[in-house]
Amino acid sequence: MNDPIKLLFDEHDIITDATNTALELRKIIDKPEVYSEQVFQLISFFREYADKYHHHKEEEVLFPEMVKANELLESGVVQEMFENHEDFRELIREIEQLTKDNSLSNAQDKLEFYVNALIDHIAVENEEVFEIARTQFSEDELEKIYFRFLDIDLELGEKNKVALKERLAKIKSTLTA
Ligand SMILES: [Fe+2]
Ligand SMILES: [Fe+2]
Repeated sequence: MNDPIKLLFDEHDIITDATNTALELRKIIDKPEVYSEQVFQLISFFREYADKYHHHKEEEVLFPEMVKANELLESGVVQEMFENHEDFRELIREIEQLTKDNSLSNAQDKLEFYVNALIDHIAVENEEVFEIARTQFSEDELEKIYFRFLDIDLELGEKNKVALKERLAKIKSTLTA
């Protein structure tokens, strides 16, 4: 079966990989130029992969469908997830600004705050939100959601999605070099 929830779980794995990388960046904070370059690379990974490819699947497809099936969710955990996504966008803007201002220690602190919040968010989705979704929808409905997810990837570009994963691998390789 084409499982949209598995697709989201797989994206969470990649995003979690990026959060671990973000925590490791502190190791190179004494090399400001390298550090800044890698933070900018990670920011663009989070903006593109985590936000455009992943959060938009949740915001434009999954969450609205979940609310349609159970309107009580709108003011509950689903609303919380939407608010988290907004907070993440703001945090990324702040991390970018601190890095531009060369306030690197503050940038790293903010980056760690961001990734810890993102890790918590992913845990709530994996353990709670996606479990609700699995019980709410029939196989047919899940399949429709799956194809709408694929449309989002097609629209944003599947090659670009792969390139983003490669970019993450590249950031990791500069940390072990
Ligand atoms: Fe989310
Ligand atoms: Fe998610």
